Amino acid sequence: MILITGATGRTGSHVARELALRGVPVRALVRNPAKAAALAAAGVELVTGDASDAESVRGAMRGVRKVAVIFPNGEQQLALEKQVVDVAVASGAEHVLKISSMEALPTAHNPTHRVHWDSEEHIRASGVAWTMVRPSFYMQNFLSNAATIKAEGKFYYPFGERGAAALTDSRDAGFFAAHCLATPGHENKSYDITSPDKLSFHEVAAVFSRELGRQIDYVPQDPAAYKAYLGRFLASRWHLDAVCDIFAEIAAGYVVEPTDVFKQVTGRDPVTLASERCLRRESVLI
Ligand SMILES: NC(=O)c1ccc[n+]([C@@H]2O[C@H](COP(=O)([O-])OP(=O)(O)OC[C@H]3O[C@@H](n4cnc5c(N)ncnc54)[C@H](OP(=O)(O)O)[C@@H]3O)[C@@H](O)[C@H]2O)c1
Repeated sequence: MILITGATGRTGSHVARELALRGVPVRALVRNPAKAAALAAAGVELVTGDASDAESVRGAMRGVRKVAVIFPNGEQQLALEKQVVDVAVASGAEHVLKISSMEALPTAHNPTHRVHWDSEEHIRASGVAWTMVRPSFYMQNFLSNAATIKAEGKFYYPFGERGAAALTDSRDAGFFAAHCLATPGHENKSYDITSPDKLSFHEVAAVFSRELGRQIDYVPQDPAAYKAYLGRFLASRWHLDAVCDIFAEIAAGYVVEPTDVFKQVTGRDPVTLASERCLRRESVLI
């Protein structure tokens, strides 16, 4: 049995679905089972509980050999991940897979990247076999711009003129993680995964223009004004500062290099931003 957290999220839903599709017994720890009804219908066993409650995590571990640790960025992320890992180890789980980030490095100073790195280190020190799946910037981040892309043909970020990102489809990240859980040979491996796309945000706009058949522009924003705007949606100051710090790094030219690890490990081509599988399936932009 494989236990997965974050199964109602962007990455975890695809891990759970792919495992179920492969006939691998999979259980999801979810806070709200109604939100996971489609997963249950796909064959995922649901256990209701909050990862901040050690008892509910313990209750979900019965018969579990592998655990996929997936949590959103935030101030609580490290504590939640440590709790799940510690309970998993104490309950006899043999393998922990974590969704991390390519920016998680020992030298990282951004709080979200630091949390990922510290959590990776905690897992490596715990004695279980581990797999780190480290995607780059999700293509799905652009979905938060769907409303302005539809209404104005524009999307806004504080990435300046030069900002760029190596892109990953979050569905590929989920597929990749499920592959690592369902097939042998991924113990104590760290995988940096991306698509072949390394694009400036103007180049992203050009792909959208071409694929959607109308002009779409990326409009650079003043960082302070954008932070004030984002502050209306992000309740946590910690999270707001961390996100804006990442934005500043991107604007200053920080970008990771694409890798071919996805294809090497799964044998499948990763989704690119322009590929039919990306834009058509994420149909909110159209
Ligand atoms: N966005 C990117 O560009 C990017 C790139 C590389 C790596 N990543 C990493 O990918 C990871 C996952 O991101 P995501 O976008 O898939 O996350 P997401 O869509 O925000 O999903 C988060 C999941 O965690 C669950 N969750 C949160 N708190 C919980 C708790 N206390 N107990 C149980 N479940 C809880 C949520 O459940 P509810 O449905 O109940 O809220 C949801 O299922 C993050 O750590 C991020 O750093 C992201």
